[in-house]
Formats: sequence, structure tokens, C-alpha cells
Amino acid sequence: MLLKENVVKTKLGKLPYIYPIPITLVGANVDGKPNFETIGDVGLMGINPALVYIASHRDHYTNLGILANGTYSINFPNTAMLAQADYCGGVSGRDADPQGANPCKAELFEVFYGELETAPMIVACPVSLECRVIQEFSIQKRQIFIAEVVQTYADAQYVIEDGNTRGLVDLTQLDPILYALDNRYYSIGKPIGVGYQEAKRVKN
Ligand SMILES: Cc1cc2nc3c(=O)[nH]c(=O)nc-3n(C[C@H](O)[C@H](O)[C@H](O)COP(=O)(O)O)c2cc1C
Repeated sequence: MLLKENVVKTKLGKLPYIYPIPITLVGANVDGKPNFETIGDVGLMGINPALVYIASHRDHYTNLGILANGTYSINFPNTAMLAQADYCGGVSGRDADPQGANPCKAELFEVFYGELETAPMIVACPVSLECRVIQEFSIQKRQIFIAEVVQTYADAQYVIEDGNTRGLVDLTQLDPILYALDNRYYSIGKPIGVGYQEAKRVKN
């Protein structure tokens, strides 16, 4: 379609093509037991104070725990955890069958708890955020949980003392799982620059 002289674009329709999507495992205690769901609709709302959100379908088992406790965790699996991450996005905690084909999701992971005591986190994930809900509302069938991050946990091997990097090694070593609306998982590429520094090349 010709939009303007020499500008040719294809209209894709109303696709929320924000990419890439970080794949996370959101944890909550449901009836006192940990449960995890795969969430791509997750985001940063501010760094100071540390605010995040998730959007989770109202029918999801995990939501019961988030609503009951007012807490959840956001865990970032690495690419070695792809099968477990995909599993947590296809089987509900409601349908877990420890003796059958659907193992209980919490049994896939070693779990730990932090300051809030009700937000289960995954030991194998390089980084986990412990979150307290400060606002919840619904949009159509989604429940949006805005939360403050009360603590951030990282494996010691990924932590560095360098003010520019906010305490964590570069993303290639964290090796997160990315996702896109083509329904494929991706791994991350190489670092290409430093925040607030690259603009110098435009100014000169
Ligand atoms: C790659 C991927 C991304 C997903 N992202 C979301 C999401 O952002 N929001 C959501 O409500 N469900 C999402 N899901 C679906 C839930 O993870 C899935 O329905 C899960 O079984 C819910 O588990 P629960 O009922 O134990 O809470 C995603 C699934 C996959 C595989």
C-alpha cells in the first residue's frame, strides 16, 4: 500500500506487535501451595519507585493466589528452562495430575520465599522479583496487577559491582527467553551500546 510518495508499508491490522516479549514465570501461592504461570504480558512501570505490572486472564488459577495474598513473583527463566516455561503456559494448576501426564507445576522447580512469605520464587531462575500488589483492575477478561517490587533476587554469579549496569551482568549471560507474535521463542543477541551514551554520535 502506498501511503506517501516512495513509502510502501503493509498494514497488518490491529496487532499489538510490541516485540520482543520477555517470557516470565509468575508465581503465587494458591491455597497455600506454589503455582506458576507463563506470562508475556508483563512490564516495567517505573524504576524508582520500582513498579511492574502483569496482565493475567481472570480464569487463571494463579490469579486466585494473587488476589488472596496480594503478592506474586516474576521469575525470568533462562533458555535451558524453555520446556518448563512452555509447560507452565499450557497446563493450568487446576488441572495438575501428579500421577498422570500433567505434573504439578510447582514440582518442576525448587522454590524459595522472601520477605513477603507468600510469593513463591524459582531457585533455577537467574533473577526473581518479589512483588506486592498495590492496584488491581480488570480490562475485558484480563486482570491487571500493578505491584511494587519489594526485593529483587539474583544468583551471585550474575551480580557485578558496576554503577552503569545496575548490579547485573549483561543480558547474554542471563540468557532470557524471548517470545514474539509469530509464536516462536528466541534467545537474546549481543550488546550493541550503552544507555545515554550513544546519542553523542547524533549530537556530533
Ligand atoms: C508463551 C506464553 C505466554 C503467555 N502469556 C500469557 C499472558 O501474558 N497472560 C495470560 O493471561 N496468559 C498467558 N499465557 C497462558 C497462561 O500461562 C496459561 O493459561 C496457564 O496455563 C495459566 O496457568 P494457571 O491456570 O495455573 O494460572 C501464556 C502462555 C504461553 C505459552
